[in-house]
Amino acid sequence: MKGKMFTPVVNAIDTIPEKYRITAPLDQQEYLCDGTIKTWTGPQQDVLSPLCHTVDGSVQQIRIGSYPLLTEEQALETLDSACQAYDHGRGMWPTMSVEDRIKHVETFAYRMQEKRDDVVKLLMWEIGKSLPDAEKEFDRTVAYIGDTIDALKDLDRISSRFVIEQDVIGQIRRAPLGIVLCMGPFNYPLNETFTTLIPALIMGNAVIFKPPKLGVLLHRPLLEAFRDSFPKGVVNTVYGEGQEVIGPLMKSGKIDVLAFIGSSRVADILKQQHPKPHRLRCVLGLGAKNAGIVLKDADLDHAVKESALGALSYNGQRCTALKILFVHEQIVDQFIAKFNDTVGKLIGGMPWDTGAQITPLPEPNKTKYLQELIDDACTKGASLVNENGGAVNHTYMSPAVVYPVEPGMRLYSEEQFGPVVPIVKFTDIDEPMNYVTHSDYGQQVSLFGNDAELIADLIDPLVNQVCRVNINSQCQRGPDTFPFTGRKDSAEGTLSVSDALRVFTIRTLVAAKETEANRRIIKSIVTKRRSRFLSTDFIL
Ligand code: G3H
Repeated sequence: MKGKMFTPVVNAIDTIPEKYRITAPLDQQEYLCDGTIKTWTGPQQDVLSPLCHTVDGSVQQIRIGSYPLLTEEQALETLDSACQAYDHGRGMWPTMSVEDRIKHVETFAYRMQEKRDDVVKLLMWEIGKSLPDAEKEFDRTVAYIGDTIDALKDLDRISSRFVIEQDVIGQIRRAPLGIVLCMGPFNYPLNETFTTLIPALIMGNAVIFKPPKLGVLLHRPLLEAFRDSFPKGVVNTVYGEGQEVIGPLMKSGKIDVLAFIGSSRVADILKQQHPKPHRLRCVLGLGAKNAGIVLKDADLDHAVKESALGALSYNGQRCTALKILFVHEQIVDQFIAKFNDTVGKLIGGMPWDTGAQITPLPEPNKTKYLQELIDDACTKGASLVNENGGAVNHTYMSPAVVYPVEPGMRLYSEEQFGPVVPIVKFTDIDEPMNYVTHSDYGQQVSLFGNDAELIADLIDPLVNQVCRVNINSQCQRGPDTFPFTGRKDSAEGTLSVSDALRVFTIRTLVAAKETEANRRIIKSIVTKRRSRFLSTDFIL
């Protein structure tokens, strides 16, 4: 069925493949604290799926379950649990050998894979992610854990040797920072939470993690695996209103690292709550408004295919999505005709429907917000230029192509995070270049063109504005071994498989003046394997 005609309503349970049905609501009352899955008996937050059904003639979002609305008391309980497990760096976990910590993480990864079907199903129901994308998110996360283990083995091998400089013997390793608070976003609730949680854990930190507001239940199947795979208190979970549960954690001053993927507004609030901000390390993935710049000599078919993918995969709900396209005036009409043709072929559907590319939107009132952005542009001179663009059907919006977008329209500067594609016509390359320069964001840019000389001239200034310049390719995070970061309001700190191991640790060393007595002491410690830090053991 074409996107324009899709209705996000489940008419009967037997229209859903059996494997993907939710037959009874999942009312999660449990949270993980101090190595125990505790039961909460207080208020619960309903979880509404973006998928709808009809009740008494009215279309409503399907209630698929609920999760605990914990209070400050339980939040501080999880903090105590993490602090005890870390025990100022003297706990079993932070002092454990790297080899043993790896074994715990491997056990977890093994147990996690047993829950693939449950997690994939919940990714579809909670956030409307299509089946292939949900499976990809799960598998990519498991692969990330494996890559993290390999990267740590490499790091450990490098750190297992002594350095002798200016008559000083030293051994330098990376040591954990303490208590890490991990908070991921709704669009990659599993992957982006785990790309901070796993490296933080494996490096010896104790972790509290709070799933995003949308995308909570999908973590429930993993609670037992967390409980059984790690020493008590090393992994803890909190759920509830940010102000109620996260505020007290930050204000305690006991959070050493904040790993947060979300808006810069919330990140600023959280940072300011810490009584000693200079102590707080932050790893932040924030907003972005990546531009695609289509030069006049671009291979149009390719630029259209790649920019449509970049703008509309998972309904444009990716931080890396292309959120504005600048197209040279000489080719803009042709580009739009081809772009609309491509967008018109995108299939709207339920997440499990074969070939579904555009799916219902999970954020409350999202279609209304997107409609406002479109209306704002249309009252200021732009139009919806694709067939059925922006048509809303409850939680579903048919992809909208809006043209010509200009400065002063909200779509020009606001991060829409949805299936709306603003197109700007440019004459002089300075126009998109100035846009990137003056944007509050600085994550990535895509250049589409064939003139190597011109592309080279653009690359050099652009790499000082954003953190990845993509040539004839959409913006994206992967491969996960590549650095993922941004400038300005887009990020703080860099994530990649190996960078993540660094951001959750600090380089610490044991050093001694090279005297006979010191040599004897070090040699004795190393040969008798008396220290896990001062050691030449390495993992093969
Ligand atoms: O939402 C931001 C994600 O990190 C984007 O990842 O480019 O692989 O979709 P992706």
